[in-house]
Amino acid sequence: MQRRRFLTLSTVTVAGLLLSRCAVPQSTSPPPRILTSRSGLLKVNLKAELKQVFVAGKQATLMTYNGQVPGPILETRPGDDVEIRFTNGLSQPTNLHFHGLHISPSSNGDNPFLEVLPEEGFTYRFSIPADHPGGLYWYHPHYHGKVAEQVFGGLAGVIIVRGTVDEIPAIANATEEILVLQDFDLDLRGRLKPPSPVFRKWGRQGDLIAINGKTPARLTVVPGGLLRLRLLNASASRFYRLQLENHPWYLIALDGHALEAPQEMPELLLAPGERAELLIPGSSPGEYRLMNLPYDRGIQAMVNSMEPSGTADGDSQEPVRIATLTYGDGTEGEAMVLGAGTLPEMLLPIETLPEPDRVREFVFDHGIDAETGQPFLINGKSFKHHRVDTQVSLDTVEDWVLINKAGMDHPFHLHTNPFQVISRNDQPEPFKAWKDVVNIRAYETVRIRIPFRDYDGQTVYHCHILDHEDQGMMGIIEMV
Ligand code: C2O
Ligand code: CU
Ligand code: CU
Repeated sequence: MQRRRFLTLSTVTVAGLLLSRCAVPQSTSPPPRILTSRSGLLKVNLKAELKQVFVAGKQATLMTYNGQVPGPILETRPGDDVEIRFTNGLSQPTNLHFHGLHISPSSNGDNPFLEVLPEEGFTYRFSIPADHPGGLYWYHPHYHGKVAEQVFGGLAGVIIVRGTVDEIPAIANATEEILVLQDFDLDLRGRLKPPSPVFRKWGRQGDLIAINGKTPARLTVVPGGLLRLRLLNASASRFYRLQLENHPWYLIALDGHALEAPQEMPELLLAPGERAELLIPGSSPGEYRLMNLPYDRGIQAMVNSMEPSGTADGDSQEPVRIATLTYGDGTEGEAMVLGAGTLPEMLLPIETLPEPDRVREFVFDHGIDAETGQPFLINGKSFKHHRVDTQVSLDTVEDWVLINKAGMDHPFHLHTNPFQVISRNDQPEPFKAWKDVVNIRAYETVRIRIPFRDYDGQTVYHCHILDHEDQGMMGIIEMV
């Protein structure tokens, strides 16, 4: 109903479009600094170091990129070259991963096996393919064994690829807000608390939720305009179950890829590593809360038994307001942009993948790996450096059947090549989408279809609850 009412307002005029550009309201929370490519080259210096910052109104000592939490936004275009001169100012090894980008996983590209020692540097160099989809990607450390600690310490930043989707008129004219969702657990002096044993094992969480380092965020939509929300879950383990109360919003992209058409969403579950983009039409002036609702990823009983009062750190079982959506004041100028906010009927086509050349099964479970003693297993084994677990052939399509035998969610992530979810517990997915993270709920079976394209070499797949990954829930894939 909301949508129909909206579509009747669609008198897009050039003047309206121009006005809407001028009437784009300034966000009250200034977005993190944006580093943009120039004449086809994005050249940046990036330094990881412990710094004092303000997060959610508190002074904190966090791990930062260039002194910022979240790190600077890197903005590129298809066909760009990227050169990142990275310096490790931390007291432990680290590296960089470019989550979701379809780029080379080898040498100084998106290579998760690199080690950048303290005080050392490394220059990452890669090219974004000319046909790369436009969307929301991100960078974060991927040094096995330290990933959860470093991401939970604050290390994460957005990568935007401006592509075809950004040229769809309604989207080009929408106001854009990039929201990086992080959680922290700080002591009274603003230092990171070491996680309790339960959280260290099952996935560390903090009760301090920050959106671009602030909380709660303020979002503004112009009456008759469109707000494009671009969300990244950059938390190490926390899931966000988001609901915009009493106001419509429409999903337009997942994990860096546009959908074929906007989808109305009552609520949105965002597992660690996932991204989602939504359009909010400025259709019903008022003030609305963006809530994070409780979600049990399978550890709640354990957390409760630790602290029966239910007040354990990191255990928000209450709905929390994480942002407020307000309307511009509806002055004459703003009223004239009516119609600029019409939802696009179509976004971008998504190819239908051919039947798979090969089907594999991956079983996710807990236990003890005989060799490494690690508790998180894929096909009965925990991660081991230099052991290739899965070898695939380039230019083939595979179905992976991801079977979760544990009573806990495991969001599965594959580097380099995105995939499409075919079914969950044999129920076909309601609409086509490209993904790079898919949550496998407790005891669920998810079937995904992956085309292996363009890049040979080795990379990884893993659970994106980063404590699980650090404790072995990862495998090496070789593309030949
Ligand atoms: Cu976002 Cu292998 O990770
Ligand atoms: Cu990744
Ligand atoms: Cu997991």
